[in-house]
Amino acid sequence: YYLLGVIGNPIAHSKSPAMHNAALLEAGVQGAYVPLHVEPENLQAAVMGMKAMNFRGFNVTIPHKVDILSYMDELDESARFIGAVNTVVIEHDRLIGYNTDGVGYVRSLKEEAVSTIEGMHVVVIGAGGAARGIVYALLLEQPQSLTILNRTAEKAEELAKDFKVLGNVNGYSIDSAEQVLAQADIVINTTSVGMHPHTDQTPVSIHHIPEGIVVSDLIYNPLETKLLTDSKHKNCIIHGGLGMFVYQGAIAFEHWLHVQAPVEAMRRAVL
Ligand code: ATR
Repeated sequence: YYLLGVIGNPIAHSKSPAMHNAALLEAGVQGAYVPLHVEPENLQAAVMGMKAMNFRGFNVTIPHKVDILSYMDELDESARFIGAVNTVVIEHDRLIGYNTDGVGYVRSLKEEAVSTIEGMHVVVIGAGGAARGIVYALLLEQPQSLTILNRTAEKAEELAKDFKVLGNVNGYSIDSAEQVLAQADIVINTTSVGMHPHTDQTPVSIHHIPEGIVVSDLIYNPLETKLLTDSKHKNCIIHGGLGMFVYQGAIAFEHWLHVQAPVEAMRRAVL
């Protein structure tokens, strides 16, 4: 019987328990996945408690994704590069930290919108925590170029510098959007611009999006942002943020249980 869960604060509205319990049922694995409200000052005690109670693993969400690093016995390359952990596997009393957000996003993009990222000109809008995971995972796919655009140019430049060893990545101010987007094959919004309740906003002017490219948005509330709706009217292939949530969970599930995640059942449970 496998014990799994997610630690965070707030945690009551997390869709992870519904998604993972549906996955356990569909995969025929005996177990349960519970939401665990943990205050920052109790983080270490909570982690040790899960070890003591023989949890198989757990997800980590806001505000613990960075602080949890110090309690890991081992870090996967993803967590090391990104500097944050969203998935912990407990194996032989050891805590192993992973970050499945970026890799989950890329798997969703490849399943749902593009045949390959290799050789493409990719543009990421935003340079926060979400962008970090995605930039890491995109560079593993060897794009021709990866350009980060951000309101605060310094943050884009800094993020690019951190990942320079993995590929051709550069960061600029969002003021360069017109020039940079003209060359783009794939554009990805990682900012919160367009998220409920500000659904009438787009992170860049739609006039700068070339006809027929791939446009992706990490936001999943609404399921289709204004950026995606407007891009659809320019014959673009669009990709929403729900898949990233489902696939980060699917990859975590596979790390814990070594069985293929039932992705469609997971998606249905979230919807
Ligand atoms: P997350 O973990 O979701 O990425 P974050 O680390 O706070 O959150 O990063 C938010 C990102 O969205 C940043 O790139 C931020 O731009 P700045 O670095 O200039 O702050 C971007 N962002 C948020 N609100 C924005 C807005 N109204 N216009 C443009 N960019 C915005």
